Amino acid sequence: MSGPTGDTHGEPTPVTVRLDADQFKVAAANPRQMERTVAATFLLGLAGFVGFGAAYWVNASNAWLGVSLGAGFVGLGFGMVAWGKYLMPRGPFSESRHSMVPTKAEKARIISDFSSRGKVVVERRGFLVKILGAAGAVFGVVAMFPLIRSLGPLPKHFSEATHWHKDSYLVNVNGERVHKDDLEYGGVLTVFPEGDVGGALSQTTLVRQLPPKGEVNIVTAPGRETWSPLGYMAFSRVCTHAGCPVALYQELTHQLLCPCHQSLFDIGPGAAAQPVFGPAPRPLPQLPLYIDAQGYLRAQAPFDQPVGPSFWWRRD
Ligand code: FES
Repeated sequence: MSGPTGDTHGEPTPVTVRLDADQFKVAAANPRQMERTVAATFLLGLAGFVGFGAAYWVNASNAWLGVSLGAGFVGLGFGMVAWGKYLMPRGPFSESRHSMVPTKAEKARIISDFSSRGKVVVERRGFLVKILGAAGAVFGVVAMFPLIRSLGPLPKHFSEATHWHKDSYLVNVNGERVHKDDLEYGGVLTVFPEGDVGGALSQTTLVRQLPPKGEVNIVTAPGRETWSPLGYMAFSRVCTHAGCPVALYQELTHQLLCPCHQSLFDIGPGAAAQPVFGPAPRPLPQLPLYIDAQGYLRAQAPFDQPVGPSFWWRRD
């Protein structure tokens, strides 16, 4: 292997340096002991990242998140610094400056020197390389957790949140079942599923809207042809912006208004309760209704979307 050069008559002369020369020796007095120390710190880092992932997953306190992430980085950082300082060839490596344009032979020699040194270093410390790789890989996986959580709730998570289910009776605040003759066109009523009067997530706005000429139902979206019998329509009363009660109905424009930040939802035919004004980001969930043989209003099924703001339904 070539190393420092001598200078004869102004021309540098390559000097061959053996791999067991002093400059290739490591700084650690006891390399084996130092390897064990570095391995221990890498393992500490790895354990820290695993702990951080677990703490994040179970929503542990910020203290646990901070301690585990700190342990991960401290372990990794300390190990890398110690490896570089004590287990790498200590040098010094120097050579005289000469022509800056290398010949083909010089290029080949440099490449050969570089790869042989790197090979020696990496081969000697294969165990440390593996632990370092494992710690980096674990950190990479753990760093994906926030992304995974941001994908939102599992479907069953929100469908079980309200007490609406197939065949639920609609009842008023006094717990009385709502009959098809109870509301005039243009009327509005707050309703709940029987057995959950006052339920914050189950509260629903029942509106009776005059169907278009020649129709008996109001179709707010394709696939909802049977959801609004005789003009009765039911929408979640929990605003999709920040959860306030969507309490006001404007009959002329077929709109429900949330008084908190003035979000307006269009519940007219074909409008699918989309927000047409204000900060609400998505439509109000609609409850599919039917009228039973005794004339009582009942639910065909629960809401098909989560009620309230989307951030309520992130996994926690
Ligand atoms: S909570 Fe309804 S618009 Fe903000």
